[in-house]
Parts: sequence; C-alpha cells; structure tokens
Amino acid sequence: MAIRLGDTAPDFTADSTAGTLSFHEYLGESWGILFSHPKDFTPVCTTELGAVAGLKPEWDKRDVKVVGLSVDSVADHNAWAGDIAEVTGHALNFPLVADPDRTVADLYDMIHPNADNTLTVRSVFVIGPDKKVKLTLTYPAATGRNFNELLRVVDSLQRTAVNKVATPANWTPGDKVIIVPSLSDEQAGELFPGFETVKPYLRTTNDPVR
Ligand code: BEZ
Repeated sequence: MAIRLGDTAPDFTADSTAGTLSFHEYLGESWGILFSHPKDFTPVCTTELGAVAGLKPEWDKRDVKVVGLSVDSVADHNAWAGDIAEVTGHALNFPLVADPDRTVADLYDMIHPNADNTLTVRSVFVIGPDKKVKLTLTYPAATGRNFNELLRVVDSLQRTAVNKVATPANWTPGDKVIIVPSLSDEQAGELFPGFETVKPYLRTTNDPVR
C-alpha cells in the first residue's frame, strides 16, 4: 500500500555500503531522507548520487541523514562508487541500501509496475525526527531530481514544524512566511508583532529563522 503523509516510515534492516543498516536506529533523532534510484551503472543515477554526496555539508547543517537504495547488491554499489567519485568529483558519503530481493522497495511501494516491472522509480521520502513521513516525491527514471529543491523543502518543513507558519509558492529561506489561518489576528499579533495583512486569510511575517 502506498505510504501517505503522516504515516510512520516503515522500519527495516538491510545490507548497505555502510554495513547492516537498521533504518530507525540509524536515523536516531535526526531528520531522514530515503530515496531510491533505478539502477547502478546508469547515467542519470550516477549524476544524482554525486549530487547528493556533494551536498553533505548542507544535509549536516540541517541534521538530515540521507539513505539511498536500489535493487542492486552491495558489491555492485561498491564497484559503481568509483565511477560516481570520478564523474562527479564527490565520493559516496552516505549509505546505499542493497535491496536485491525488493523487501524495502515493496515496503515503500518504490516499484511502479506500469513504469518498470523490476526497477525502483525515483522515490523520495522525507522523514521527521518523530519517524513520520513529511513529504513524498516520485520521479520517473529519465528525469533526475533537483536536490537543491529537497534542501528548500527541508528548510520549509523544519520551520513549519515548530512555528505557526506556512511557506508560499517558490519560497526560499529569508523570504516572508505566511501565518497559519488557524491563528486569530490577536494571537498572530502576540507571536508575530508587526505582521502584515494582505487579505484577512493571507497574513505574512518575517522568516522566523534569520
Ligand atoms: C539512468 O539513471 O540514467 C536511468 C536508469 C534507468 C532507466 C533509465 C535511465
């Protein structure tokens, strides 16, 4: 069954390039991103994994632990790792789960048979410290993901988790945020002095993280 927002991210134990990985234990109190790619030794995947590795300082800054996955073996992942470093300039610096029997892929509904019967699609699950799924994305094999967008999404999720705000279209850190409609003007004034009213239901304030 498909995993929906607010569901507990299924736990699993699997082989990975970092040894046996128990997912929930590995995440600990951190945020997590579990993402699948279709296949080792393929072009788009090579660029994606290098891009994720290159963003390690950004994941660390946000306390995000990233875990990749495909239905290939650990031996294949390790053999491919050299190509990723050579081509992208970024060596793998996060665990790549090996899921040849598709246990995890099935648990997370990462195989979409009408797209491909055997390979995982490009799924992404952003998981909060409470182990609940906060965001899902699914891209097809031929379209590489924009991992800077995932950083932006994490920036939004982390703000909206602890402040009574939402982020508007195309928001980036530093832009104004929206005060959630469930707050009265009086409550909004206490939490966000000087907030602006664009419409009674659209009130903005400064980014709470500055
Ligand atoms: C790729 O990573 O380039 C790719 C993988 C599977 C199917 C198509 C493209």
